Amino acid sequence: MAQPIDLADPDRSLIAGNWKMNLLHAEAVALATAVAAWSAPVAAAGVDLLLCPPAPFLASAIGAVAGGAVAVGGQDCHAKASGAHTGDVAAPMLASLGCRAVIVGHSERRRDHRETDPFVRAKVETAIAAGLVAVLCVGETLEERDAGQTAQVVTRQLRAALVEAATDANLVVAYEPVWAIGTGRTPAPGDVVAAHAALRGILAARGPASRARILYGGSVTAQNARSLLALPEVAGALVGGASLKAAEFRAIAETAAALRRQPA
Ligand code: PGA
Repeated sequence: MAQPIDLADPDRSLIAGNWKMNLLHAEAVALATAVAAWSAPVAAAGVDLLLCPPAPFLASAIGAVAGGAVAVGGQDCHAKASGAHTGDVAAPMLASLGCRAVIVGHSERRRDHRETDPFVRAKVETAIAAGLVAVLCVGETLEERDAGQTAQVVTRQLRAALVEAATDANLVVAYEPVWAIGTGRTPAPGDVVAAHAALRGILAARGPASRARILYGGSVTAQNARSLLALPEVAGALVGGASLKAAEFRAIAETAAALRRQPA
């Protein structure tokens, strides 16, 4: 039986599915079950798989992937570890359920809930303190990109969230250009490489041997996965829409596995 993965090894690739506010319970269970069924060879090739279902489905998803090589994580957590915050989910709750990770700072949260850099930093802190891997999303808007501010924006967001306790094992950064999310548009390869290099520069300033994973996210599909995943410093993908389709998510994960077996 495959071992559940703990996501702590930065030298493995990571393919994460962010289901956002989609699916009903039975559909979520079916999707998690389907991913677990093909997960073992992908994991054996050095690719971690992470599913981030909506909060009400986390426990069922954890049950559905049992026996597979799949980790489950939250899509968000509160900045505080507990307290009077109606409707919110705390990082220690996620950890107590068996979640391994939590997405923080997603642009949809920054936009819909006016989350600021300091608030996102507090979430990273709480997530790591709870023993979770924090998947920190950074990315520029179209206006910022057009103004040539991409590197400036993403490095500001990363710097703001780089808490003392962050290590290669508990922090994953996801570069997600806001204008590429759910739009079918992706940046030119050179732009992805430049953004990832800027992010690595910030991580390396803390420790030159930094290996923390930097994922790309934004309209990743089975069609473009290979070209994106083969880029330098792209350690995996944070997949939204395509992660809701079992066959397409599988194709993306298997592309990552194939690239590990036979680098481009
Ligand atoms: P998308 O979403 O793949 O649907 O563009 C990615 C994300 O928001 O994480």
